[in-house]
Amino acid sequence: MQRSAAVERHAELTAELRRHDHAYYLEAKPRISDHDYDRLYHELLDLEKQFPELVTPDSPSQRVGGAPLKEFQQVQHALPMLSLENTYSRDEVKAFVTRLQKLLPGEKLEFVVEPKVDGVAVSLRYEHGVLTLGATRGDGTTGDDITANIRTIRSLPLRLVAADADPRADGSRGGVRTVASVPKVLEVRGEVFMSRKGFLRLNAERAAAGEELYANARNTTAGSLKQLDPALVAKRPLEVMIYGTGRVETDDDSPPLRHHETLQWLRALGFRTADRTWLCQSAEELIAAIDELDQVRRGFAYDTDGAVIKLNDFAQRERAGHTAKAPRWAMAYKYAAEQARTRLKAITIQVGRTGALTPVAELEPVLLAGSTIARATLHNEEDMRRKDIRLGDCVMIEKAGEVIPAVVGVVKEQRTGKEQAFRFPATCPECGSKVTRSGTNAAAGLEPQESDGAEEDNVVWRCPNPDCPAQVRGRIEHWCSRGAMDIEGGGEVLAAQLVRSGLVLDVADLYKLSVPEVAALERMGEKSAQNFIAGIEASKRQDLWRLVFGLGILHVGAGVAKALGRAFPSLDELRAASVDQLAAVRDVGAVIARSTFQWFNDGRNRALIERLRKAELNFQSALYHPQSAAGPLSGLTFVLTGTLPSLTRDEAATRIEAAGAKVSGSVSKKTSYVVAGDEAGSKLEKARKLGVKVIDEAEMLRLLANPQTAAGTSK
Ligand code: IVH
Repeated sequence: MQRSAAVERHAELTAELRRHDHAYYLEAKPRISDHDYDRLYHELLDLEKQFPELVTPDSPSQRVGGAPLKEFQQVQHALPMLSLENTYSRDEVKAFVTRLQKLLPGEKLEFVVEPKVDGVAVSLRYEHGVLTLGATRGDGTTGDDITANIRTIRSLPLRLVAADADPRADGSRGGVRTVASVPKVLEVRGEVFMSRKGFLRLNAERAAAGEELYANARNTTAGSLKQLDPALVAKRPLEVMIYGTGRVETDDDSPPLRHHETLQWLRALGFRTADRTWLCQSAEELIAAIDELDQVRRGFAYDTDGAVIKLNDFAQRERAGHTAKAPRWAMAYKYAAEQARTRLKAITIQVGRTGALTPVAELEPVLLAGSTIARATLHNEEDMRRKDIRLGDCVMIEKAGEVIPAVVGVVKEQRTGKEQAFRFPATCPECGSKVTRSGTNAAAGLEPQESDGAEEDNVVWRCPNPDCPAQVRGRIEHWCSRGAMDIEGGGEVLAAQLVRSGLVLDVADLYKLSVPEVAALERMGEKSAQNFIAGIEASKRQDLWRLVFGLGILHVGAGVAKALGRAFPSLDELRAASVDQLAAVRDVGAVIARSTFQWFNDGRNRALIERLRKAELNFQSALYHPQSAAGPLSGLTFVLTGTLPSLTRDEAATRIEAAGAKVSGSVSKKTSYVVAGDEAGSKLEKARKLGVKVIDEAEMLRLLANPQTAAGTSK
């Protein structure tokens, strides 16, 4: 074939295959048989073999390109990816409307209600119509570059082509028709998911191959997107639903100024959007739409867990603004979790890394919200007693927050009299130590909570032995986890093997491991051992907050660890800090300060730190930035408590600090002002007891505007 003819035929084939992809994946109306599709596809491949210069990145042949990656690159989002305020209450929906009406007085408000797809958030960037980047949400500011994986999603266009916008995906109705031109830059935001059918088919294939089944579609989707080899990802039935835009740059005025039209525009550009949306103008209409969505959503091909309500007009959105985490112009209404009924066959006891003993229900497997459930948590002994849960009972289970299923109650009418009470063990099932209920385990001193866990301590039985294999395993796994030191491969299974083999007794031992030692473990290959050791080596350079989080100090979650990393230049300074110094850190309250202090002053933990130092781990904090002392309010200390009417706590703290004052997490006699908002709790009480001046947000703003009116600025 002549080159010119080849160029022409290539263009034809490309366009035709794209049309068929669109018909198949977006309209679910294939126009040709699979066989004919394959024929066209192979013709394209042959042509590209003959004329390799015809292979462009957006060719249908290039969905799976390139070798597996070593790791994902980090990418910064052009506009942050915010999350949504969640609620289960209709009253909150009404309050949301009232709040917006107050923010936008006298304006006519219109909302769009759309399904909340239960998948994984992504941001996709098109430059001059070509897909150039696919990224995960990450922390909202930076995510992983998963472009290669995103490209494998067949329903997603690799190149955008301007077309007629049609309000109906199937083109059956005329309506408004606008011609979309392709923007210079278009970032779209959406949710990657697996349809229920796709998920079931995938699991059926795995069952046939004798492989373990996946628990649910959402987690399998998340796991798929994390794969480094796009060829593997291509085998997963991933799809993507687009629900909005990020940055958009065009030469004309084609991008719509309202959400509803934007969805049509996106559809015209070739994206899949929600199956149904509702336009509403009042709280009553919103609630009606939410109810209607609840009726129809089971008919969708994918799982949904709520309704998203969004202000339609972009200019109004701008005026409504956002808090640090979520826009004020949108919210999610979540539908109550689905429940299922099944038989409680047995109860086992799990020992966590904090030594906490958790009773686990072993169930007759049952289908719940799309996944098969055979185990569920029973929380603790107290909870079991309150619900009067007995072995052999017929129980109701529910997916709490869509993650871990829980037993929520007993169907007492089903009792036969043969059910048996369960006796909580007096000794740890892992190490045989006598279990205690006297608060937390001081030496191991752990738990990933940032809340004040005081009440919980009394109901939880704990194994007091810090060397208990279950706790050691848990600590290793936590250290390696993605949110902490991010050592790939250091999951439950390997952690258990390392501990069982005696190779690892604490996290410092990880840094003495060798490839042959790890490779000799059961089911470990040379290659995975090498990767694991490389991961351990790389973790030495992780920033301080990850290390601090990884230590598993009671109440020190990732957020607190970051706050500590901002406040202290190095682990040595942090270790030497007094309770008061710790409590003076923003986001660190008295409870956290005490537990952090205790942890660092425990002999065992000190020795552990020294061994980590010897292993040459990074002890410096890249987040550290000293607070500027100079400012009109320097010398003053503020404590924020409760919900402020207009500012988030972060926003308020930033303003206070900008004026030179300090923001502390706990109230003491030295506190200059407590700024109290709605539902202020113990800090407000303490301020009153100590006679500390309490002000509201308005007064705080006045102070910031007129610092000379503040009491004691000179102290
Ligand atoms: S809008 C700034 N619309 O829910 C608004 N989100 O908690 C950002 N989600 O991370 C989100 N369906 O991944 C929006 N129709 C929808 C959605 C949706 C699912 C996810 C999204 C986000 C999370 C919000």
